[in-house]
Amino acid sequence: LFAGPCDFLKGVVAMDGMPPADRLEVCFAGRSNVGKSSLINALTGRKSLARASNTPGRTQEINFFELGLPENSTERYLVDLPGYGYANAPIPVVEKWQRLLKQYLSGRPNLRRAFVLIDARHGVKPVDEEIMSLLDSSAVTFQCVLTKADKVKEKDRASILDQVRGKLAKHPAAYPELILTSSEKGDGIETLRATIATLT
Ligand code: GTP
Ligand code: MG
Repeated sequence: LFAGPCDFLKGVVAMDGMPPADRLEVCFAGRSNVGKSSLINALTGRKSLARASNTPGRTQEINFFELGLPENSTERYLVDLPGYGYANAPIPVVEKWQRLLKQYLSGRPNLRRAFVLIDARHGVKPVDEEIMSLLDSSAVTFQCVLTKADKVKEKDRASILDQVRGKLAKHPAAYPELILTSSEKGDGIETLRATIATLT
């Protein structure tokens, strides 16, 4: 589906740096280290387009990627948001990002869906619920993507999925379908790619 080239466009630290809202856009939110950058790399088939690392809080800007699509189809922006729930971040830094995140979520008319990434080993944490509530109040439809499925035994998957579904029931902006992924092994990547490509 994503036959064209995928490119890093820019990293922004304020609303006035955002690219024009001239195409549909989806964003990836999630706790630090949940695997946002790795997922973008898996989706685009590029090993290191988005910088993935072991250091939590590595992605400090809102990063825009252009998703090259075959000619005659609508292009999309993929947006890698800074991770939240980073325990060692100084409070002013956290507050600055919360402000930017709120502005972003309510200020992009072309933002069609937020993917909230949840580590399949850990399930939904209180900070994830805070983001979900923010998405509710910004009226941005969000869909949960479970990451690192390769780290969870087959037999443990159902209970994690149930935990996530239980949490989603409280959120009016939640899209009910979950996607279980592994950027490492490729599970769920095609499903997520097709989901993004078919958004209108
Ligand atoms: P921040 O930018 O700090 O918010 O982190 P991030 O959410 O972008 O996480 P990132 O993609 O940098 O991945 C964090 C760590 O998890 C890296 O060591 C990745 O290699 C690892 N990781 C990401 N996805 C997977 C996966 O599907 N399976 C496994 N086993 N490891 C993964
Ligand atoms: Mg990152």
